[in-house]
Amino acid sequence: MYDEVLTQWQRGWSASRGWTDYQQVDDVIVVRIGEPQRRIEYIATEMHAAAAAHLALTDCNPPGTSWLTIATGDPERVAGELVPLEFVRTEWLMSIALSDQASSPVPAPYKLEIITAPSIVDVHVYGYGELAATGRMSLLHTGAVADMIQTDPAHRRRGLARAVMTALTETAITHGATRAHLAASPEGRPLYESLGWTTVTPLLVARTATTSAP
Ligand SMILES: CC(C)(COP(=O)(O)OP(=O)(O)OC[C@H]1O[C@@H](n2cnc3c(N)ncnc32)[C@H](O)[C@@H]1OP(=O)(O)O)[C@@H](O)C(=O)NCCC(=O)NCCS
Repeated sequence: MYDEVLTQWQRGWSASRGWTDYQQVDDVIVVRIGEPQRRIEYIATEMHAAAAAHLALTDCNPPGTSWLTIATGDPERVAGELVPLEFVRTEWLMSIALSDQASSPVPAPYKLEIITAPSIVDVHVYGYGELAATGRMSLLHTGAVADMIQTDPAHRRRGLARAVMTALTETAITHGATRAHLAASPEGRPLYESLGWTTVTPLLVARTATTSAP
């Protein structure tokens, strides 16, 4: 049902992070990330969670470095079914028609900088001599994926993330994007909801166990 959105989000997330090595194996998207703590990511819908778990449990990566993102309406139940994989957290796959996103200017005295590289938009917000907030959007044809939206703890609840999302969205629209997706953390979800984004599905994030069972 949400296979297509999941695939679009993976393409944009991978583009944002520079992860170019990915392929489809048994209805599971396999992203070779190659980072020490996250060597590989298996992305699938709940229907193919068992196949993703099998791939994770039989690959040659060190314990704790093979990760899974499973789109499921019931992350807790699926986490129970995937033992001995370790539950990490629940996130939410969210979407919006970009023209529907609420907009908000950067509050004074903060200043906003937009850097556009081919297919990537970066927004930085500076204030009080510090980099206070950042965000990125990757652009793929008419689709966009927001990623790494962060506000430094000392500058939170002042509307900076809202301003970052506004700048990313406006820039993406000028590059022809019409729709966007993102994976929201529990902290990020209220922000995106307040801007008009809607939840497509929860995402179960799990990984191979870091310690062996007693
Ligand atoms: C999530 C995060 C980016 C929000 O940054 P921020 O600059 O504080 O957000 P804003 O001030 O623009 O908040 C805009 C709206 O989002 C919502 N919101 C933001 N933080 C919230 C929180 N902790 N709890 C509830 N709602 C929150 C509110 O609706 C808020 O409006 P309000 O302050 O008028 O109520 C920031 O908390 C953060 O960096 N968290 C850690 C990294 C992270 O989880 N990023 C999201 C990845 S998906």
